[in-house]
Amino acid sequence: MDTYTKAKLNNGQCIPYLGLGVYQSPPGEQTQNAIIHALNSGYRHIDTAKLYDNEKDVGIAIRKSGIPREEIFITTKLWNDDHGYDQALQACKKSTESLGTYIDLYLIHFPVEKVRGDSWRALEKLYEDGLCKSIGVSNYTVRHLRELLDQANVTPTANQVEFSPYLFQKELWDFCRENNIQLQAYSPLTRGQKLQDPKLMAIAEKYNKSTAQILIKWCLQHEIVVLPKSINHSRIQQNAQVFDFEINQEDMAQLDNFNENFRTCWDPTGTP
Ligand SMILES: NC(=O)c1ccc[n+]([C@@H]2O[C@H](COP(=O)([O-])OP(=O)(O)OC[C@H]3O[C@@H](n4cnc5c(N)ncnc54)[C@H](OP(=O)(O)O)[C@@H]3O)[C@@H](O)[C@H]2O)c1
Repeated sequence: MDTYTKAKLNNGQCIPYLGLGVYQSPPGEQTQNAIIHALNSGYRHIDTAKLYDNEKDVGIAIRKSGIPREEIFITTKLWNDDHGYDQALQACKKSTESLGTYIDLYLIHFPVEKVRGDSWRALEKLYEDGLCKSIGVSNYTVRHLRELLDQANVTPTANQVEFSPYLFQKELWDFCRENNIQLQAYSPLTRGQKLQDPKLMAIAEKYNKSTAQILIKWCLQHEIVVLPKSINHSRIQQNAQVFDFEINQEDMAQLDNFNENFRTCWDPTGTP
């Protein structure tokens, strides 16, 4: 595995396992430079959203990089205000315009109650019309996925959720694998909050890696797409230097046991 290694989605499209997250990357040159640096460091996958207000910068950075568009995978997301059939079609069009290029993966950002079914039908239409290469969801629990699978004509290719050893959602991971839905880990670095945890530091020391690299590698060894965010050039590079070592089985099992249902972001569990 290296930065270019891809997972195959259930519709045959491929997605690089490592992606750069750009949530809270400020609009403008700082984000553009971070993305160009990431692309030069081997990243081929950028995860944005309408909410992040930097879709435009993602498009600019990719064009500036000179790397052929088809080598790069872009995900963006339908924001909560844009749910509903017509609104979702419109929102996708706007995101495509902001990016200045096509969308590889369009996700429903959050399973907003009552309207998410209509929005999914819009995403199916976008997919069937070739306006998005793949479609999927984010923050869906097993219950939300079951509801969707009961109604859908197109199976979601991916589910992007908060995931780390500190929030090891085993049941959701198993469900996604059984249904051929690619799991993606957001906030895989716990937004920095667990990077000083002594038991994680002990594992990192053993491999001569940073705690961030261990958290990223744990996802990769579980075949989960992982989306660390950074705007710092040396950390962007560090987060990609995870392909020259393997965490052994015993340490993987230990990391699996770190679960404490620790969330840094919103919790969709209670969403009807
Ligand atoms: N679908 C959703 O609802 C959803 C929700 C949240 C996030 N996401 C996606 O997932 C991505 C990642 O999640 P996240 O941004 O919440 O958190 P994260 O990737 O877990 O953590 C990012 C934080 O860690 C720092 N950091 C990065 N690399 C580091 C390293 N090697 N050592 C120490 N600190 C490091 C970053 O600071 P610097 O930038 O200063 O390096 C930033 O403060 C987002 O950007 C977004 O694309 C999706």
